[in-house]
Order: sequence, then C-alpha cells, then structure tokens
Amino acid sequence: MTEARITVNGKEAPISPAAPHTTALDFLRERGLTGTKEGCAEGECGACSVLVARPGVHKPTDWVAVNACLVPAAALDGQEIITSEGLATVGEPGTPPALHPVQEEMAVRGGSQCGYCTPGFICSMASEYYRPDRCAHADSGDSADAAGSTDAEHGPNGFDLHSLSGNLCRCTGYRPIRDAAFAVGTPTDEDPLAQRREQSPPAPVATEYAQDGSTFLRKSTLAETLQLLRERPDAVVVAGSTDWGVEVNIRSRRADCVVAIDRLPELRELRVESDYIEIGAALTLTEIERRLDGDIPLLAELFPQFASRLIRNGATLGGNLGTGSPIGDSPPVLLALEASVVLADADGERVVPLADYFTGYRQSVRRPGELIRAVRIPLPLSPVVAFHKIAKRRFDDISSVAVAFALDIEDGIVRKARIGLGGVAATPIRSLATEAALEGKLWTAETADAAARVLRGEGTPMNDHRASALYRSAMLGQSLLKLYAQTTEAVSS
Ligand SMILES: Cc1cc2nc3c(=O)[nH]c(=O)nc-3n(C[C@H](O)[C@H](O)[C@H](O)COP(=O)(O)OP(=O)(O)OC[C@H]3O[C@@H](n4cnc5c(N)ncnc54)[C@H](O)[C@@H]3O)c2cc1C
Ligand code: FES
Ligand code: FES
Repeated sequence: MTEARITVNGKEAPISPAAPHTTALDFLRERGLTGTKEGCAEGECGACSVLVARPGVHKPTDWVAVNACLVPAAALDGQEIITSEGLATVGEPGTPPALHPVQEEMAVRGGSQCGYCTPGFICSMASEYYRPDRCAHADSGDSADAAGSTDAEHGPNGFDLHSLSGNLCRCTGYRPIRDAAFAVGTPTDEDPLAQRREQSPPAPVATEYAQDGSTFLRKSTLAETLQLLRERPDAVVVAGSTDWGVEVNIRSRRADCVVAIDRLPELRELRVESDYIEIGAALTLTEIERRLDGDIPLLAELFPQFASRLIRNGATLGGNLGTGSPIGDSPPVLLALEASVVLADADGERVVPLADYFTGYRQSVRRPGELIRAVRIPLPLSPVVAFHKIAKRRFDDISSVAVAFALDIEDGIVRKARIGLGGVAATPIRSLATEAALEGKLWTAETADAAARVLRGEGTPMNDHRASALYRSAMLGQSLLKLYAQTTEAVSS
C-alpha cells in the first residue's frame, strides 16, 4: 500500500488520517485551509470550490473548478489542487501577500460583503480566468458587435458568466461580482498558474487507501478495474462523485469499498467513426462540451441546461446513466439520438441500445461488475433537434419534465421522428406513439397539434413536490408546439 498524497497549493500533504469517504472539503479544512467553505455540502452553493489540474482541451493542463464537498479526498491522490489561499502570492516576511488579479478585482469592485461565498467565487473565477480560449472570445474593443462581444452573459474580456452559475451569494448581490468578472484581464507570461498550463497535469496514480475498515481503490487500467469489480461485487463505483457525494453527505451513506473509475484512459476517449461517435463514459460533461464544440447539436443544447459549470466539471455521462434516475437529463437526449451504451465486464463487452437499457425505477440491464465504458451515437444525425427542460429555475435545477426531439424533415414531410422523455415514467422513455403520429406527415400546425395531443398522453406522469401529473402532461404537449414554432421558419426557408 502506498501513501496517498495531494499537492495542495504547491506542497504535498498526506491524506491520512482522513477516512476514505472524507471529502476534499473536510480534508482541506482539517489542514487549516478554511478559506474553502461548507455552505450546503450538496453541490448547490459553490462555497467549497477549488481548482484541480486536469488534462486540458486547448493546453496540456486546465485549471478546473470543482465542488470539494462532493469529491472524496482519496480521489485526488497524486493530484494537484489550488485553494483560494494558494492564489495570492506570498511576499517578503512581514509584507501582506499580493492579491491574485481575480481577488484584486473582487476587492476593488465591492464583490464581497460577509465573505462567506467569496473564496468559492474566487476559485470559479480563477478557473475561467485561466481558460485558454477565453481571451480568443474577447471583444476586440473595436466594436461592441465584434465576435464574442459583450452580452448579458459574456464580458468584453470573454468571461462566461455561466462559469459562476454554481456559486451563490446571499448578501453582496451579483452586480459587483459580475463587474469584477468582466474586468479581469489576461494572465501574464510570468503567472505561475498560467505557466503550469503548458505542462501535463499529474498522471492518475493507482490508489489503495484504507482506514478504519473501509477502502478507496483506483486501478490503472480498465482490465484491472473489471477484475477487481468481479472480486468485489459489493464495491461502489464512483466517477465524478456528483451523485455519490450527495449520498455520503446528506444521506450518510458509507461503502466498505469505493472504486474510482474517473481517470481510466479507456473510459476517457472520444472517437469519431464513419457511422458513430463514441463518447467515453468518464469524460466530464465540460470536456465533452468543449471537445465536441457543437458537433452534436442536441448535446450542445443539453449541456448549458445540465446543472452548473462546477457540477459539469465533474459529472459524467456514465454517472448520469449509472444512477438509472428517471429524471436524469442525458437519457431523453440520448434516446432521441438513438444512442447505445457499451457495457464492459471482465468477460468482454456488449452494446445495448439505450431504449433497452432501463428496466424499471433506477434499474437497468447492467449486471453486477459491469461498467458503462462508452456511449455510442449513430451517424448521420437528424438535423431538427431541440431539448426542452421544464424546471422551476431556468438553470441549475432538476427537471420536472425533459423532452428531446430529433427529426428529419424533408420537403416539408417528417421522414423520421425520435423523441426522448424524462420525468413522466419510472424510467426515461421513447415517445413511440407520438413518433408514429408524426412520421410520414406534413410538418404543419395541424400535424403538430394532433401529435401534441398524443404526446400529452404518453408515459404515466406522477404528482410530486416538483410538479403535478397534469402539469407534466400539459408541458409535454406544449413542448411539441414550441418545437413547431421554433422550426417552422427554418423548414420553410
Ligand atoms: C447540485 C447538483 C445539480 C445537479 N443537476 C443535474 C441536472 O441538472 N441534470 C441531471 O441529469 N443531473 C444532475 N445532477 C446529478 C449528477 O450531477 C449527474 O447524475 C451526473 O451525471 C453524475 O455523474 P458522476 O460522474 O458525478 O456520477 P457519480 O456520482 O460518480 O456516480 C453516480 C452513480 O453512477 C454509477 N456510475 C458512475 N459511472 C459509471 C459507469 N461508467 N458505469 C456504471 N456505473 C457508473 C456510480 O456507481 C453511482 O452509482 C446534479 C447533481 C448535483 C449535486
Ligand atoms: S458546500 Fe455548497 S457546493 Fe459544496
Ligand atoms: S458575500 Fe456574503 S454570501 Fe456572498
């Protein structure tokens, strides 16, 4: 057994004596790094955000902000993290540290009052500050209409306000925080964290961390992991831990054995073949979003509506399908895309259409010891797509109902319709009756009206604290009418 260690603000620290389930947040606070705060312990407030050095999309390393309250410290064995304390530059003894440019802007623009949320905002802001392609999207300054120019959600410096969507502030008000975000400049060449982006992030290390009878394990390869899962069918598998972390913190769930799969190279590939795109189950949603860069338009509609940037920086497709939740947001989209899951166990692989994957409430055909290795999306893609998520808040909320459409409309006729639904049955479902009501019909208001009536009757929606069954049914029909309104212009032109 090797000693598990994390490099925090440039210094190595042993994880011991933390328990295998101890979160990175508690680990940091125990070490005196109390800038990292606990607000909710369930990924909703961002007070706990820290920066992790991860494989970059445009440079070898990206500084990725994650919720330290959800990630077990043991999952960061061998990794490098920066907290709000590590952003300021320590000067000569007796002199105060020099604030980081992000901290400076927050201070001078009044972005902090009680300060509880501030370290979390600072880390999310710093992650966006160091995003290599941020400045490529900055306003040239020549024209307010320049590509990537200022709008309500992007600053003239290319700063995407959605990078702060997982951070809550109860007292300052968001305007000064936005002012600070839109005022940050570009990292200088001497900036050590900007320089750090040019080297690779730490490689994943095999981990075997045991304390008080429970164990956190990470193997180096998929084959070793599958063999381990065969021997330990009781083990809990974790990827981004954005679901499991909530179980641990809020429902006090504990596992004797946790097996991490988030760094397995075999689960982190994105392959484009002639007839399908295969997305590794352990790529984070942010990685998929940035690497696909809109190539699968229906996924591009999904991502901004899926939780916050902080959550998407950890959350994976494997985890979203792994929970089997009927209100996960990716299943309706993947059903409309006619995706399959590639399941792997120690004996080999099988490919299962997602439409056959879910068997009941939080149940699937996945066997003990089997992992989702990848999600396969067939090509070509249907051109008319939409994802409508009906939730109480526009962003960062759980769906009451989610509807995804993928339609082929040629010469004004619906040649093919695929519709995925979430939140209206014990499992995510395909909307087969509505698909049949659309196919072969002229794409007219009458067809949309008739199909919307069919769609209202699909599934077996329930009354619960999020929405009534009646509301859910009404939203299904409305969603098709909205699609018709959205697409009419495109189809007729
Ligand atoms: C604040 C907050 C907001 C959220 N908002 C949304 C939202 O808007 N929409 C939404 O759909 N979800 C949302 N979620 C839920 C969660 O983020 C997603 O379900 C996410 O995709 C889980 O991925 P993960 O890698 O973090 O899963 P983990 O927590 O690591 O794992 C979840 C489950 O999946 C299993 N699992 C993980 N990977 C695999 C694999 N490759 N093969 C087999 N099983 C696997 C694990 O064993 C575990 O049971 C939210 C969560 C939080 C905390
Ligand atoms: S403490 Fe609220 S997101 Fe972590
Ligand atoms: S400054 Fe008080 S919560 Fe944000």
